Amino acid sequence: TIEQVYRGTFVHSTPQTPLLILEDALLGVNTHGTISQRQKNVVSTHCYTKLLCGVYLNSSLCGFLPCSEFFMPGMVDTHIHAPQYSYAGTALDLPLLQWLNKYTFPVEAHFADLKFAQQIYNQVVKRTLRNGTTTACYFATIHTDASLLLGQIANDLGQRALVGKVCMDRNDSAKTYKETSQESQEETLRFIKELLEKKYPRVSPVVTPRFALSCTEPLLGQLGAIAKNNNIHIQSHISETVDEVNVVKELFPDSKSYTDVYNKHNLLTDKTVMAHGCYLSDEELTLFRQTGASLAHCPNSNVSLCSGLLDVRNVLKHKVKIGLGTDVAGGYSASILDAARRALETSKVLTIQNPGYKTLTFEEVFRLATLGGSQALSLDKQTGNFEVGKDFDALRVNVAAPGGPIDLIKDEHPKVGIWTLIIKIVNSDDRNIVEVFVAGKKVVPFTEKTQE
Ligand code: GUN
Ligand code: ZN
Repeated sequence: TIEQVYRGTFVHSTPQTPLLILEDALLGVNTHGTISQRQKNVVSTHCYTKLLCGVYLNSSLCGFLPCSEFFMPGMVDTHIHAPQYSYAGTALDLPLLQWLNKYTFPVEAHFADLKFAQQIYNQVVKRTLRNGTTTACYFATIHTDASLLLGQIANDLGQRALVGKVCMDRNDSAKTYKETSQESQEETLRFIKELLEKKYPRVSPVVTPRFALSCTEPLLGQLGAIAKNNNIHIQSHISETVDEVNVVKELFPDSKSYTDVYNKHNLLTDKTVMAHGCYLSDEELTLFRQTGASLAHCPNSNVSLCSGLLDVRNVLKHKVKIGLGTDVAGGYSASILDAARRALETSKVLTIQNPGYKTLTFEEVFRLATLGGSQALSLDKQTGNFEVGKDFDALRVNVAAPGGPIDLIKDEHPKVGIWTLIIKIVNSDDRNIVEVFVAGKKVVPFTEKTQE
């Protein structure tokens, strides 16, 4: 049932039930921003702001907040290109490989300019936070200092983030936007070292070969070794379009498949997230499962660039971890709620093509947007739902706010109530997200300090 699916993860407020439910007990947030079980004899409070000061939430809060308001877990964007926020929308123009050459490489080259990088990176981190993305897995550009700046901005604005300096030692179309293998390796090591030295509590480096097309075999091997030696995350793209898969076959004739190219170079681990995967075979999905690598489903991008349709049902059948990605700017929206709607849409197109297909449900995409994403990034010990011991990454949502669907359906049965609430969330936007918390700290609305 829905209650079982969301037991311990879903939170709602009605006049009859407490604001936050966790395993039938009330939820608390301690001074470290970690979720804890309510203890007996804790003095309850009617003051919402006390929530973050170690005072446990109490059902008396129900009367305090209107019941169209509730908390839900913060959302996870498992794949987003921070520099590409500056030209979002262009992917509707061309297919992937042409789009990379015409828009992506020329614009990304500008991120050598730290002032420009600062401006765009500030905008994208703020935009995603306002959209309820409490955790983001970012591609930056090949520039180490600008990539470090993105890490700093995410830290300063309070977002949980994985940040990758992009690696590419092969690029026939833009001679100025590539590195030598040695530069790519050395700068990746410098990036990891300098980012870790900052000791940001919730920002970590991720090894980032752009994709097999833009990396030589020696570089792929070096990057696999770097990730292993430093025990850090890996991200890249895989099987996004038919043209791309065909070029990979030409470039790597000795590999059995696209997945095999990465696996050969130790780039598939339980801390790897690969974007797209529209054309992966069952055998390749099995390799994902065996290595613990995950997929970032980016439905807006897949349709905008006319790349393909990922069969999420088949990915789930193979028990491969999967979350949602905006893939800005392959996708034109920086909102994971948009990605959730597009995931439903893609699933419906697959149903039109094959009437026997089991369409994804609202609950399934809600889960992909939250817990699924945290699992895909191997961050589910820290975030993804409201389990005791995890950080309080949360959104205060008001579905009655402007932009929310009009409440025409009056639910009597509580199960139905949860259903329509999920439908309302998925159809919401940033106007419905009143506050955003990361590890118990309120990061939206922005403070005077973060406002600029
Ligand atoms: N494959 C390699 N680079 C990119 C990129 O920037 N965006 C997308 N969507 N796919 C890629
Ligand atoms: Zn991408």
